[in-house]
Amino acid sequence: MQLIHTVAELRARLASEKAVAFVPTMGNLHEGHIELVRLARSRGSCVVVSIFVNPLQFGPNEDFDKYPRTLEADCEKLQGLADVVFAPAVTDMYPEQQTLFVEPPPIASELCGEFRPGHFRGVATVVLKLFNQVQPQVAVFGKKDYQQLAIIRSMVTQFNLPILIVGAETTRAADGLALSSRNQYLSAEERTEAAFLSQILSGMGETLKGGAVGYVAREREAAAALAKRGWQVEYVSVRKQADLGVPGEAERRLVILVAARLGKTRLIDNIEVCL
Ligand code: PAJ
Repeated sequence: MQLIHTVAELRARLASEKAVAFVPTMGNLHEGHIELVRLARSRGSCVVVSIFVNPLQFGPNEDFDKYPRTLEADCEKLQGLADVVFAPAVTDMYPEQQTLFVEPPPIASELCGEFRPGHFRGVATVVLKLFNQVQPQVAVFGKKDYQQLAIIRSMVTQFNLPILIVGAETTRAADGLALSSRNQYLSAEERTEAAFLSQILSGMGETLKGGAVGYVAREREAAAALAKRGWQVEYVSVRKQADLGVPGEAERRLVILVAARLGKTRLIDNIEVCL
């Protein structure tokens, strides 16, 4: 495994590679990221993992400064799994002030986008830069960030990028909590409570499979159940898997998405439900 910091070095290293599979990350790797890397390995002969905490996707009051940066430990975890770790400096990624952006579709202003204005513009812009730098044939993203995956898929289709996007299932702890670098912000007590987020999604999924319609009422019930236990709920929303639009009653392929805060920590999760 080779650690590379500059685009020039990256280009030279990848020049003769024909099947590059790419996993973009912000580092502080956990088993969820590692599963993505394993999936990438099955899709390409050369696996590149990027580690870059992207300032453009954090709001002014978000956790950019305290986001855990653990490059050495990350590289150890990737030993034998990745061929190249690409960890550019902010000045390489943003050689001049960024005044051009990928303008994401209207769906980027809903769900997480409503509570994190500009977030998906920052994500789409940095992912396009990373795609240009790495020039992969395949890129793997987690369904944990379902809205992000949907926006990246649209970007690739609408900008005719010759990259196959692969969505990976969410990796969870034994109690169901989706793994996330932000879980480490939770106190011991909050960590125990955090498992409730995936439980409420599974419960709601069963209710929908049982034939319940009236999604708005189900969303309100779930939000109230979370609030009663001390969560500050941003949204609980039943959407269409295909485009994250609001589903009609005939829609069979649904996804339930949730974002809520426990103390200072913001957690997101989702579950696909096929009726
Ligand atoms: P980051 O949060 O580090 O996540 C990197 C990738 O890992 C994303 O595709 C995310 O969906 C996936 N991932 C995280 N936790 C997961 C889990 N428990 N199970 C499965 N996949 C999981 O997402 C980002 O970084 C950034 O926005 C990025 C795309 C790198 C752009 O800066």
